[in-house]
Amino acid sequence: MTRRRVYLDNAATSWPKPPAVYEAVCRYMRDNGAAMGRGVYACAQEVGRTVAALRRRLARLLGVSHPERVLFAFNGTDALNIALHGVLRPGDHVVTTDTEHNSVLRPLRFLEKYRGIEVTYVACDECGRITAEAILAAVRDNTRLLAINHVSNVTGTIQPIHEILAKLGDHPALRLIDAAQSVGHLPLHFDQWKLDFLACSGHKGLLGPLGTGVLAVSQRAAEELLPFREGGTGSYSDHEEQPEVLPDRFESGNHNVPGLVGLERASAYVEERGVDALRKHELHLTGYLLQHFSEMPAVTVYGPATLEERVGVVSFSVAGFDPQELASLLDAEFAIEVRSGLHCAPRLHRRLGTLQRGGTVRVSFGPFNTPEDVDVLLKALHDAGRS
Ligand SMILES: Cc1ncc(COP(=O)(O)O)c(C=O)c1O
Repeated sequence: MTRRRVYLDNAATSWPKPPAVYEAVCRYMRDNGAAMGRGVYACAQEVGRTVAALRRRLARLLGVSHPERVLFAFNGTDALNIALHGVLRPGDHVVTTDTEHNSVLRPLRFLEKYRGIEVTYVACDECGRITAEAILAAVRDNTRLLAINHVSNVTGTIQPIHEILAKLGDHPALRLIDAAQSVGHLPLHFDQWKLDFLACSGHKGLLGPLGTGVLAVSQRAAEELLPFREGGTGSYSDHEEQPEVLPDRFESGNHNVPGLVGLERASAYVEERGVDALRKHELHLTGYLLQHFSEMPAVTVYGPATLEERVGVVSFSVAGFDPQELASLLDAEFAIEVRSGLHCAPRLHRRLGTLQRGGTVRVSFGPFNTPEDVDVLLKALHDAGRS
């Protein structure tokens, strides 16, 4: 008997995608196939129009007033690297947090080692929360950058970004948020919050294909940012130097057009269904799961107790099970796909006390999950506990 596949790993990458995404990617691959920004023929122009529409749509979703300040990257990690490598200079001080993903921690470690930057790590509590006060206490006069995770990919904890930024006042530090787990799940207001960088994946909450990422930049950040890679842009081709103009300055080489065409339809779905409605759906499933977990003594849940402080990401452990073994068992016996391990966030696991225990099992919901998926998981955990 073939069992229904239950995909609960949307924080890694979302699946399934809205059907229009598959259609658009297939149609582009089969019938168009042209590169972007490089040709005058109709198919190339059509690609240019689609990507321009995507940039405008993302600007609306992220709250950026000028679409040219929305840059394409190849994933969230790439977007973060473009920002961190491009803006930090020797001697800079950075404030970041214990909740960061390795795609922030590792570039910062690299820059510490090879470029002489200094990093302060702000501790979180046992639910993965950071306070505005703790951030402010770490900020110095010479702090150049604040790099803060908006939502934890381990505990689903939402950080009080708005409050942190408000309390920071007019301190000149650049403000970066890692929105990999908040985009498509929470409303974002880049300009209103006076952010300088927002990095996110295109393939998680935005529901686009893998190989897509986004970096939004403020005008002042764009002026301070050096390109991470240089090359052909299809513009100003008589200049041997990288163009100054946005977005070309930071988008060298051919774009991932199949990915962007898919992301255009995907973000249209997100915009049409609405981030608030998506959040409501995910919180409904999260609340349902947490309610059942609270009645299962063998299950320990990590992260905040209140739904308002969470997105649809739930990390847990089950007494008597190693996280990897449990995830393998869920897949092999029940066709349930969850993530297990450290989820690329070692500092947070140290804080949760789960580093030595192999991390946690993580369930993460997307727009197409249903309460029946939760029921299948609960029954599987029940059966696994008896075997
Ligand atoms: C919080 C966070 N930041 C950054 C990333 C990296 O994103 P990507 O997988 O698109 O490189 C992830 C991926 O899981 C993440 O959860």
